[in-house]
Parts: sequence; C-alpha cells; structure tokens
Amino acid sequence: MSDLIRTVYNEFKDRFNEEPLLVESPGRVNFIGDHTDYNDGFVLPASIQKKIVMGVSQNSLNKIRAFSIDMNEFVILEIQNLIKNEKHWVNYIKGVTCELIDKGKEINGFDLVFSGDLPIGAGMSSSAALEGALLVLLNRIFDLNLTRKQMAKIGQLTEHKHVGVNCGIMDQFVNLHGMKNKAIKLDCRSLDFEMVPFNSEDIKIVLCNSKVSHNLASSEYNTRRNQCEEGVRILKKYDPKIMNLRDVSQELLEKNSNEFDEVVYRRCKFVLEENKRVHTACSHLEEDNFEAFGACMFESHKGLSKDYEVSCYELDLLVDLARNKKGVYGSRMMGGGFGGCTINLVHKDYVEKFKQDIQKDYTLKTGIDTEVYVTQIHSGTKIIHKVETEKTQVG
Ligand code: GLA
Repeated sequence: MSDLIRTVYNEFKDRFNEEPLLVESPGRVNFIGDHTDYNDGFVLPASIQKKIVMGVSQNSLNKIRAFSIDMNEFVILEIQNLIKNEKHWVNYIKGVTCELIDKGKEINGFDLVFSGDLPIGAGMSSSAALEGALLVLLNRIFDLNLTRKQMAKIGQLTEHKHVGVNCGIMDQFVNLHGMKNKAIKLDCRSLDFEMVPFNSEDIKIVLCNSKVSHNLASSEYNTRRNQCEEGVRILKKYDPKIMNLRDVSQELLEKNSNEFDEVVYRRCKFVLEENKRVHTACSHLEEDNFEAFGACMFESHKGLSKDYEVSCYELDLLVDLARNKKGVYGSRMMGGGFGGCTINLVHKDYVEKFKQDIQKDYTLKTGIDTEVYVTQIHSGTKIIHKVETEKTQVG
C-alpha cells in the first residue's frame, strides 16, 4: 500500500472510526489540443501517476464532514442547505453534491478525507481529480448508477455553476477514462474516443512547474470562450449549420476576416489550427515519429502564446530553455495557461541533465525554483479494493 493510501486510510479511521471506501484519482497531462474542448474540437490528454486519494463512508447525520489532510482544514456542511464556502476546495465537494441532488439522486450524509501529491494550480487538473474521486465514491456508496460519461458531465457542471470556470470536458473526461500507457484522443462533441498507445521506453514525459499559480486567471479563461463564441456568431450567417468553431473551415474564416475584430480573429484562427494539429500529431504518434510529434507541440505553444495569448513570461521561458536542450523532442504549456506547467518529451538518456539544467537556467532568470516531475501515464480514477492495514501487513 502506498504511503498516500495509508495516510488517508489511517486518518479516516482515527477521525471517524469507520472503514472508508477509497479511490485513487489522477491528474492529467495534455499532449496537444488546448482550448479546443469547449469549441467542440479534439484533445489528446492522458491521466498520470500524480493523484489524490480520497476515502468516504456514509453517516446518519445528514451532514457532510470533510477533512483535507494537506490543508489541515475540516468542514461540516448541511446536506439540506449547501451554500458557497470561503474555502475553495469545499466548493467542489458542495458542487458535486448539489448537482447530484439536482439530478434527483438521493444523497445522505457522508464523511470524507483526502490527500494528494498533485500540485494545486499547476495545470494538472487537481480540481477534476477531486470531482472525479468524489463522483466515483458517491456513485458506489449511494448506488447512483451513473456512467463515467455522466460523471464527467457532472464534474464539468460543478465547475460552471459552483466554481465559476466555464471549462470544457477534457479534464473530467480523462480523469474518469484514462488507461495506463494510453493517451485519449477525444472528440469533445460526441465524446467518442480512441486510445492512442504512448508507451515508448525511450521517451519520458517531463513536467516543469513554472510555480506561477493560474487560479486568478479564470476570468481570462471565460473571456477566451466568449471570443470564440463571438467568432461563431459572425460566421453563422454564412452557414446556419455552424454551432461551434469545430464547424468552421479555415477558408471561411479567411474569406470573412475583414468582419472580425483583430483579436477575435486571432483567437479563432488559433483554435482551427490547434484542432487540425491534434489529428496531425496523432498520426505522428501512431507511427512513433516523436520528432514530428514534438514539432507540433512547439507549434502549439507558439499559437497559445502569440495568437491565443494564454501563456506568460515564465511559460515562454521554460519552452525556450527546453528548445535548445539535448534530447528534447517537444515542449509546450498545457491546460488553461497563465501559469502552471510545461510538458516536455525528453529522451531517457538526457532526462537527468535536462532536469538539472532547466532548473538552474530558470532560477537564474526568474529567481523562482521550478519543480520538475518525470511522470508516467496511469489509469483513470479507480476504487482501491484491497486495503492492507498495518496489522495484516505484519501478520
Ligand atoms: C482547462 C479546462 C479544460 C480545457 C483546458 C485548455 O484545463 O478545464 O476544459 O479547456 O483548460 O485546453
């Protein structure tokens, strides 16, 4: 049993004196396809080793008693009167519960403990991990009969209605559908998906944390979404079938570019290009052509930085530093942006050197100590069936 599982299990037993049902719920990387999900486009994420572990059991109090080990914060919420909480993490718990109740599901009191090794605000979707963990647990203990797709949508609604981020579905979907050594090519309109093997022994996924937290940027995120919708409004008059940027061709955008505000034009142009890049990059991955795949990653970063303007000085710097290092195939910011991590594909022989050098160079230029994580693709949220206690281990 990992230390994390043991910590959550022991804390739960000590605090509530009950046997919890436990889950592991991973963070995610996104190889390519950012800001395409809410445009009904394609993405290529994967769930990773870094995760949160959560334990839950029913109580008969009609209350939620929740404890975050990492924050050392404990709250009690009334199921009949769930209101916005000043503690950010609590709103995910409250939101998921409210959405389930809104769907007519019967949720009674429950106790909850969680902890993780997933950095918060670092662009690895710690919030989707929290939502996914709770949904899988509540689904089981209250027999809700939800499919994983339904759970992903409830997680997304939680963000929209209880957190204020009008996100797409990528993070919640990959958290609940991830598989070891596979990336998911997801069609965010139909939610059809394809598992794309990513199991090269030679290539490592290396994340560099800029340590710029992106929490405050949620309003900019929503602005980007509005700008995309503005583009759709303009082009819809030429083809009423256009529902989203997914339906727009590059030709149509070019032909009518004079009707666009310059900024909105650049936003839309980026989304069309990025969406196309997901397909191109996927075919490179299927052929194990990491050179070409990496080139798509650099292109994606350029678009995110210059046209979509969701990067920042620190992320641009990390990508520039990576570009000139030996063994690097590709590097880009990932996720919502404005901070968080870059994702880098690095040949295994050069990973140690890459790590040391990028840490040194980044600190020299910014005064910030970056953290570098070498990670692997792991399965999506899953229930931990066998909890070995201290006693059974000894005995
Ligand atoms: C955040 C959102 C996702 C997606 C990415 C950008 O992670 O939660 O839905 O839009 O940003 O690709």
